[in-house]
Amino acid sequence: MSESSHSGAFSEELLLSMMRRRGFIWPSFEIYGGTAGFYDYGPLGLLLRENIRNAWRRIYRKEGLFEIDTPCINPEAVFLASGHVSSFSDLMVECGGCHEIFRADHLLDADISSLSPDKVASLIEKNNVKCPRCGSMSFSNPVPFNLMFRTQIGPSQGKVGYLRPETPQGIFINFQNLRRFYRDSLPFGVLQSGKAFRNEISPRQGLLRLREFNIMEAEIFFDPSRKEWGSLDCFSDEHILFLPRDGSELRLTPDEALRKGFLLSQAHAYFIGLTYRFAVEIGLDPLRLRFRQHRKDELAHYAIDCWDLESEIGNTWVEITGVADRSDYDLKAHHKSSGADLSYFRKSENVQSVSKLVVRANLSKLGPLFKSEAAEVARAIESLDPGKLLQGTKVVVKVGDRDIELAEDCYSVVKVEEKTSGEKIFLHVIEPSSGLDRIFYALLQHSSENSGDRTVLHLKPTMAPIKVAVFPLIGSTRLIRESRNIYGSLLSSGIEAYYDATGSIGRRYTRMDEIGTPFCITVDEDGMRDRTVTVRERDTKLQIRTGRRNIVNTVMKLISGEKLSSLGKIVEREIEEESSDGEDDE
Ligand code: ATP
Ligand code: GLY
Repeated sequence: MSESSHSGAFSEELLLSMMRRRGFIWPSFEIYGGTAGFYDYGPLGLLLRENIRNAWRRIYRKEGLFEIDTPCINPEAVFLASGHVSSFSDLMVECGGCHEIFRADHLLDADISSLSPDKVASLIEKNNVKCPRCGSMSFSNPVPFNLMFRTQIGPSQGKVGYLRPETPQGIFINFQNLRRFYRDSLPFGVLQSGKAFRNEISPRQGLLRLREFNIMEAEIFFDPSRKEWGSLDCFSDEHILFLPRDGSELRLTPDEALRKGFLLSQAHAYFIGLTYRFAVEIGLDPLRLRFRQHRKDELAHYAIDCWDLESEIGNTWVEITGVADRSDYDLKAHHKSSGADLSYFRKSENVQSVSKLVVRANLSKLGPLFKSEAAEVARAIESLDPGKLLQGTKVVVKVGDRDIELAEDCYSVVKVEEKTSGEKIFLHVIEPSSGLDRIFYALLQHSSENSGDRTVLHLKPTMAPIKVAVFPLIGSTRLIRESRNIYGSLLSSGIEAYYDATGSIGRRYTRMDEIGTPFCITVDEDGMRDRTVTVRERDTKLQIRTGRRNIVNTVMKLISGEKLSSLGKIVEREIEEESSDGEDDE
């Protein structure tokens, strides 16, 4: 578990205090006492979070997926059909001593998803579980608690709605629109990212368990006989730690995992590879990532298989993305509940002949019986489902407002041969579903290093909320004016920049190291004379002197990964980096 490439001792406390102080995140509603499970993103946190989201968009756009946006509030029918009304719940218990509510699985520190409430109650008793708050050993019986927030749509009481606990239902119910958009070519995939809402029973894990959180999901639709996407060759260098449900732990490429039979389809292997690549590309530590397969009794109600990308966050493994095979569960469920046809017509090369049952009206009987209405009665009977008719029984058909009973000799169920150029099928779905807040927090942890009482965030330049800071070395009007000009031209070019003229230059560097700013530009008198500036790199503390005129271009090259030393002359005697002598901007 603790194989880690991370060096400087990590202190969660120091990181959290920096995140609050520097404006990454703040607990919500603090002036009203706070409410567990909600966090605000401050200016830097929001920039970082959206950099992650945009990296996710880019990686999936490269695969040809488009994004849509559907409502957070859905009518009850959607979640009745999807199974969330009946199945999306956790067992909760109340402490008899202090009346605190707990999730039963958290109290037992075990997965209990396959156990009945009675069995869970006896486990709590047998294990002498104590209330973590007051120590009492008396608990109420476990009861299921549905995690969806229920609301009312409009003023009428009957119109129940729910806040979505995940985004894919908005994609599934648009299946026909999306199929047309992709002009029926398979496979195709659709993205959605936005807020999801879960009324978690007792969220005590900061950003890891929120009641309102950010999710990024891709739903990729396949013909069930061809669950294939791209080529696994592009992941041949990714040796990923896999924990299949047989208990083994192996480092494998996605292709090897498929060939060993751990994965059900090539497509599942591909999106596991892509999920891993995204995590590494944004800067998560590859040695603190692994894929764990769900046990059968752990699978969500819609999944036939699921692999969680877990990340080591503060000594525990936390799910950050689930890559599930949802089969045809959702499309079939909405097809059945809504009455809309959510099937897909699979064309075949050749015209085939298929035999099917049809209901045939016996007009020689219906004519004399119903006269001018006979044709209408015949239409009604021929529209009945032959599979539900037992030959040789009476049937009732509706004609206008009337129910008409027909004897068994008024119709027959016959087998006919039909020419067809295809068949109706339900598509299968593979879904990588990522929790953005968990990824955000994992990235901060994996990137942070403590130096003294300070944190340095080694974020990749593409992820850093601020890419570059601009400082006048001293507060002279000339240097301030020039620094502000540089700052303005960086902002105009779309580069997130920061201007700072307060405190010593050392302190200014320290502040920027703490929030992960990869580059700092300093304007000094020498540079005013020869039209140069110095650029300092966070991770190496190396400084170069480079041309003032091309500075925007230089910064762009640095952000895209060019080496600092190739862009200017290395400064032998660095601008003094004074150590920080206490908090200057609390
Ligand atoms: P857990 O078992 O931790 O409750 P889950 O299996 O219910 O998670 P999923 O339903 O697979 O999670 O949700 C997809 C992703 O959404 C997860 O991988 C996780 O990153 C994120 N997520 C789920 N619940 C929360 C939450 N309460 N707060 C923040 N992120 C969440
Ligand atoms: N879409 C997967 C989940 O949130 O459960």
